[in-house]
Parts: sequence; structure tokens; C-alpha cells
Amino acid sequence: MSEVWDAATYDEPRRRLVPCFDDFYGVVGELVVRSCPAAARVLDLGAGTGILSATIAERLPAARFHLFDGSESMLAQAQRRLAGREAHFTVALLTDPLPAGPFDAIVSSLAIHHLHDEEKRDLYERALERLAPGGLFLNADQIAAPTPELDALYRALHLDRARELGSDEAEVAAAVERMRVDRNALLPEQLEWLHSAGFQHVDCFWRWHGFAVFGGGKGR
Ligand SMILES: C[S@@+](CC[C@H](N)C(=O)[O-])C[C@H]1O[C@@H](n2cnc3c(N)ncnc32)[C@H](O)[C@@H]1O
Repeated sequence: MSEVWDAATYDEPRRRLVPCFDDFYGVVGELVVRSCPAAARVLDLGAGTGILSATIAERLPAARFHLFDGSESMLAQAQRRLAGREAHFTVALLTDPLPAGPFDAIVSSLAIHHLHDEEKRDLYERALERLAPGGLFLNADQIAAPTPELDALYRALHLDRARELGSDEAEVAAAVERMRVDRNALLPEQLEWLHSAGFQHVDCFWRWHGFAVFGGGKGR
């Protein structure tokens, strides 16, 4: 995995670079609160500095977390963010075996789009195996646009939003450079992969152009 993330500078520009930041992460938090027990066991895939886990922890203080990421420095930052919470940290690739679980929720944000499509599909299948009956899988991620015209539109809307929120041209250029290695997949295909893997209640729960929160549940 190439280290494109600098843990020291990752957090500060997030609210400018992730459009609708509060909704994007908050929808995952809301759905986990609705679906999981108070002491939910939560696995965060590609957890980075722990923004998503912390969003869930604010709403579900007794939840127990397992943060999984290929970057030791990003997880070290997450460890500081989640100090005082019950949390485990594993440095590993998303293509490596997942922690045994079972988990009440498996969540991910802005990480799975780094995988090849076959790896995404395989990860969805392996996530279902690690969920407890009735458990929930949610991926808040970038998605591919169905046509080049829409891709250009979504990209322009994203970058204009970042500028409105205060990103300067250097920050926009750095974001564009990082996005060159993205492997975004179409939303309908990913929903179909979740269906095929055996998830129930598969849906897209929130979307803003090239950003979506989607997932499904495991049968009881
Ligand atoms: C854009 S950051 C997202 C971090 C966090 N989930 C968030 O929402 O802020 C992408 C994260 O995915 C991790 N990542 C990317 N590809 C990975 C892989 N193949 N295996 C494990 N982690 C990976 C990176 O180390 C990084 O922490």
C-alpha cells in the first residue's frame, strides 16, 4: 500500500475536503445507534485517524471499537483520538484476514475505494462472515460516476465546495493528486455485490454526487 496519507496533517483540512462532513459521517452514526446494542462491537475498516469511530462513540459511548488500517501512523493518531474508549488497533491491509469478531457493526469511510473491484467484492463477503446475526455493514465512500460527463461534474462540484469552505489552490491540487490513485466503483454495482454476498436490506442511505453511504444487514 502506498503511504499517501500524512497522519500529522490529515485531520485539519477534512471539513473542507469532505463535502457535507457532518452528514457523511453522521448518517453512519445514526444508523449504528438505531440498529446496534448500546455496547456494540464495532469494526472500522481503513479507520485512519479514527474520525468515523469517534463519531459513533459520541452517539454510543459504551460501544467497543476495533480499528483496522494499513498505516501505523494513522492508527497512532486514532489511538489518541479514542483515548478513554475501549478500543483495539490492528495494522493490516484490507486484503488481509479480518479480526474474528463477531461484530454488531462493520463500518468504513473513504478507504474501500482504494481497493481493486475484486478486492472490494471479496471484502464485502468477508465482512458479512464477521458480522453477528442482525449486524450492520456500512460503507461511507467515494463512488464512480456513470459517465465521463457526470464524473467531471461531480469532481467540479466537490472541488468548488472545498474552495467555498476555505481550501486554497494548493490544498485542492494536493487533493486532486491523491485522488489519482482512487479506484471508485459504481454504486449500483456495489449494491449488487452486497446482495450477491448475502446481505439483506441493501440500500444507499445518503448521497451527495460522488459520495455515498451504503450497506446492508446480516439476517438474524
Ligand atoms: C482517506 S483515509 C480515510 C480514513 C478514515 N476512515 C476517515 O474517514 O478519515 C484512507 C485510509 O485507508 C487506509 N487504507 C487505504 N488502503 C488500504 C489498504 N489496502 N489496507 C488497509 N488500509 C488502507 C489508509 O491508510 C488511510 O488511513
